[in-house]
Amino acid sequence: MRTKEGETELKVPEIEEDKFPPSSSGVFFNPRMESNRDLTIACVKANSPQKFFDAHSATGAKAIRVANEVSNDISVFACDWSKDAIEFIEKNREINQVGNVKIINQDNRIPLHKNKFDFIDLDPFGSPVPFLDASIESLIGEGILAITATDTAPLCGSHIKAGLRRYGARTLRTPYHKEVGLRTLLGKVIRKGAEKDKALIPQLSYYQNHYFRAYMKNKKGAEASDKLIEQIGVIQHCFGCGNRVIVKGYLPNLDEKCRCGKKYKNAGPLFLGELGDKGFIKQLIEQLEKDEIKTKEENQELLQTRLQEVDFPPTFYDIHKACKRLSTSAPKTKSLLKKLREKGFRATKTHFEPTGIKTDTSINELNKVIRSFN
Ligand SMILES: C[S@@+](CC[C@H](N)C(=O)[O-])C[C@H]1O[C@@H](n2cnc3c(N)ncnc32)[C@H](O)[C@@H]1O
Repeated sequence: MRTKEGETELKVPEIEEDKFPPSSSGVFFNPRMESNRDLTIACVKANSPQKFFDAHSATGAKAIRVANEVSNDISVFACDWSKDAIEFIEKNREINQVGNVKIINQDNRIPLHKNKFDFIDLDPFGSPVPFLDASIESLIGEGILAITATDTAPLCGSHIKAGLRRYGARTLRTPYHKEVGLRTLLGKVIRKGAEKDKALIPQLSYYQNHYFRAYMKNKKGAEASDKLIEQIGVIQHCFGCGNRVIVKGYLPNLDEKCRCGKKYKNAGPLFLGELGDKGFIKQLIEQLEKDEIKTKEENQELLQTRLQEVDFPPTFYDIHKACKRLSTSAPKTKSLLKKLREKGFRATKTHFEPTGIKTDTSINELNKVIRSFN
């Protein structure tokens, strides 16, 4: 069947909603990932790379869109190890008559080891970890590594052992486990980069529709890597009172017990620095405004919320869970944010949860403000 994304017409497999991969041909195409692809295209436009490598190309949707919608000056590489996928990519190259797309039918780690690229997109089934070594090795200049991770269970604390194996980190199912997951993923990528004296600085990262996505910019050098590594550490969470403590450092000294007397549970090592860069996000907001895409509203809302969240401390509070612990009814998010700000605290919505807020308040202060509604 044919579909249109952005300005590009694509041949895609017939979609069977309840199947995985969601097509009978075995070639993967998920129409619900259109927003991810639209944002990728905006990001390529905003960063003007010379060599774009689509490591998990499937139908070639991203690669062909880059070639068709961004510029024909970019050398685009569409890689997939499946022969069936290659047929789709070839057809899509023909439909859009884009000459600047080279198609590679190999394990993507082979071309990554042999070549250098300044924009690499990883979009595997599950974890991106098996592809980190080769892609970070290949990334040059101030290049962008764009990563999708769909293995949310190990990242968010549901499959602890898999999290330890893949990410070398202890994850934790806290009320803000999606943020723990994202920070665990970033921590892994940053540590992998540091092995090669490359600082991979998060420009935009988020959770959406059961996957994580991160855009990280390469800055070469031991000094930049050291600086980024200083942002690795541990989150201590108290399941008794909801208190959380942020401790930076690879082997930090940790308190055993919370002030309420209950033992902390710890998550880490994970990244405790900024999840995004304001300048980068603003650039994407401007770019998206110009793009003719169906997901404009959804992506703009995501980016605006992400922009507000930059500069807030790690973790967020789920209002419903906080209220449940206090056996009180939940105030409206808007009213709670207003009251916190009136009291001199910083507070904003978070993209992670519709009932979540980010604030610089302690749990005790937050509890007082919540109680004041009753
Ligand atoms: C989730 S799909 C990619 C979806 C695509 N990026 C899109 O936006 O529609 C993953 C693809 O990666 C391919 N793949 C998985 N491991 C690979 C590897 N090591 N080298 C090359 N291709 C691989 C699979 O054949 C599959 O087509």
